Amino acid sequence: MKRILIVGAGGQIGSELVPHLQKIYGNNNVVAADINSNCASNLGDVAFEVLDALDTQRYVEIVKKYKVDSIFNLVALLSATGERNPQLAWKINMSALMNSLEIAREFNCAVFTPSSIGAFGPTSPKDNTPQDTIMRPTTIYGICKVTGEMLSDYYFLKYGVDTRSVRFPGIISNVTLPGGGTTDYAVEIYYGAIQHKHFICPLPQGTYLDMMYMPDALDACVQLMEADPAKLKHRNSFNVTAMSFEPSQIYATIKKRIPDFTLEYNIDPIKKSIADSWPNYMDDSCAREEWGWNPKWNLETMTDDMLKVIGEKYKAGVLK
Ligand code: SER
Repeated sequence: MKRILIVGAGGQIGSELVPHLQKIYGNNNVVAADINSNCASNLGDVAFEVLDALDTQRYVEIVKKYKVDSIFNLVALLSATGERNPQLAWKINMSALMNSLEIAREFNCAVFTPSSIGAFGPTSPKDNTPQDTIMRPTTIYGICKVTGEMLSDYYFLKYGVDTRSVRFPGIISNVTLPGGGTTDYAVEIYYGAIQHKHFICPLPQGTYLDMMYMPDALDACVQLMEADPAKLKHRNSFNVTAMSFEPSQIYATIKKRIPDFTLEYNIDPIKKSIADSWPNYMDDSCAREEWGWNPKWNLETMTDDMLKVIGEKYKAGVLK
């Protein structure tokens, strides 16, 4: 990776991937693009382009202008939002990917596209979900992810496009809030704990889901894209996880640090049914073997860091 374009740079992952890649590859070798021009001010000192990823002509112009050789395609509606407007989710998620793949084919770029735990469905094994198994998701988000995985492998096999991907679990972070995901509660609970000492949880106790702290997610993106292609038996897409917990466990971990923190449950039926169709925890041994995946953060260390960073933001008045 020498000249990197991040499409959907204003989102939860993009807003942290941009500075992370700048640190590694140099400020001038990273270009951020997003449909929303307002996010430019949060991204710091980076070349920024307004881009609707469905606008092929503009996408091509940007790739040519910056001589891009690697694309991070981060454009997607998340799972719960997708269920409210499946046709729009399909249109955005698949058209952005198709544009990225076609442009990568024409301009010889590598492409990273996140897949998700959402690519699995109710008939996938729930515990220690294997790398290669039944994938019949029941959300439009998951259907887009499985299709995207297959399409990305197809572009590699048929055209030699260097496509790579991981199946991210819920990503927990403190810069940009996720929006419309089923795993978002595990981010929002930290803000609730600090701001109100109270949190209303949309998923029931006992709902285990894979999770990961953002620094590990950023490492996964770079490690996989830098991996020796000769060692990759898989490409689209690798199971990766760092921890698995259910709501009462993250609550207890925060309560150890904020003793008067309280939790109530008000179940969101859409999110519950989505979460029930996803794995409890995935087997990520292929990622460990093929490109050295080795997450560093767990629920305890992540909770210390989340409470510290978000607490400081409230103290400094950055958050109210
Ligand atoms: N975080 C995503 C969601 O909940 C899963 O990939 O939609």
